[in-house]
Amino acid sequence: MKSMYEIEKLQLSDPVKNGKVEDIVKRLAFTDAIVERIKQVFISEMELALNMEPSSLQMENTYIPELPDGTENGTFLAMDLGGTNLRVLMMTMKRGEVSNEIVQHYPLPEELRIGCGDKLFDHLAKCIDDFAKEKQLKDDCKYSLGFTFSFPMRQSGLDSGVLVTWTKSFNCPSVVGQDAVLLLRKSLAKYKRTNIEVVAILNDTTGTLMHGALLDKNTRIGIVLGTGSNGCYMERANRVKHWEKQRHGEKHVVVDVEWGAFGDNGVLDFMSTEFDRTVDEGSLLKNSFTFEKYIGGKYLGELCRCILQKLHENDLFLEALSKEQYPKPWTFDSDNVSVIEYGTLNDSWDSLEEIIRTKFATARYSNDDLKIVRYVCGLISKRAAQLVAINTSVLLNRMGEEEGDNITVAIDGSVYKHHPRLRKWIIDYTALWTNDKKCKFMLAEDGSGKGAAIVAAIADKLRLRECSN
Ligand code: GLC
Repeated sequence: MKSMYEIEKLQLSDPVKNGKVEDIVKRLAFTDAIVERIKQVFISEMELALNMEPSSLQMENTYIPELPDGTENGTFLAMDLGGTNLRVLMMTMKRGEVSNEIVQHYPLPEELRIGCGDKLFDHLAKCIDDFAKEKQLKDDCKYSLGFTFSFPMRQSGLDSGVLVTWTKSFNCPSVVGQDAVLLLRKSLAKYKRTNIEVVAILNDTTGTLMHGALLDKNTRIGIVLGTGSNGCYMERANRVKHWEKQRHGEKHVVVDVEWGAFGDNGVLDFMSTEFDRTVDEGSLLKNSFTFEKYIGGKYLGELCRCILQKLHENDLFLEALSKEQYPKPWTFDSDNVSVIEYGTLNDSWDSLEEIIRTKFATARYSNDDLKIVRYVCGLISKRAAQLVAINTSVLLNRMGEEEGDNITVAIDGSVYKHHPRLRKWIIDYTALWTNDKKCKFMLAEDGSGKGAAIVAAIADKLRLRECSN
């Protein structure tokens, strides 16, 4: 590893203080033994879930048995609901290539994300209806729509997804336990949109994998590292026990790991810190999505704020600031961590000083305070990167048995895109933990939109095949 990607040792002017700070944050840095233990726990949780035994992972069968193969033709619609995005998209494909694409973004205010499920789905249908009117979709044409619903769901087919729990910044309790496809169809019916048929539901990682496969045929893994985090991969169909539909000789199937919930059953307690527990305590959905809270963009900033708060309470950070003046929960977002990390890489303190002045609202800080913030951001960023790399390397090692080397990992998400050091750490640690197996990480932007249209195309092909059999 190049040294610029190492966390520089903390060197405060006062060695006693230095020791105290290091002591408080030391559990954020992994030893080799901890890494190994997380790997083993991840492997065992995966196996349990695939065998339908209790596990914090879902390993959900998505019922998608194939990747795009160049025979996709037609115009498809997509609805993308997940992080901060609500989008409707229309994509035309000719022989597996995207020939045209129109995307429309729609606002999704908090009162729709948190509240009544019917209102949320009616709003989704209204956006699709507005899109159809504005883009003058033909009434006498049938359009297949892929629905990216980036939440954990139980699937009994490609077009059914029962919400297990909300996550990230959503909480409309009445939807839990309901099939999101049926809800969207019901709401679309209110707009008499009979020419639009919801043919598939998927999450953003599956979309990313699909879009990645279009760009690079060696793609077998899709990862999202944004507001939340998750991964999916191509699994041998025979290793998956959960099939509610009759099988049609599938050799492979996309499995949605749902690694955001990894550790919800306590299997990762050995590595969690008091700061992680504070973040969880203050989160919208407590005691859930343990792993996501270590790495997701929704949480990294808050994690940083909590760690610094502990140091502040111990008179080790921003001593001139009173307890009342210390920033309130959830006021320090993850972009700040990325900006601070840019400063670390470029050896510039300006942006960090600006952040202290604005976010911590004080001009009374010392060089040691700056060094502490930089150190903490480095530690939590590296830990996040290592956690993603652990899961990715386990998947690669598992697939390597069959697929060999040269697997491409398609990845997307705001944290991956905007954090300056995370990417290299993920790549380097994945290489280290796969014994340098040749794998490629590829940014597959907007997989949650494009991927849904691709899955709609695949769903149409599968149906045609079923009909002709
Ligand atoms: C959450 C969802 C998951 C999604 C991820 C990234 O973890 O449960 O389905 O893929 O966020 O958006």
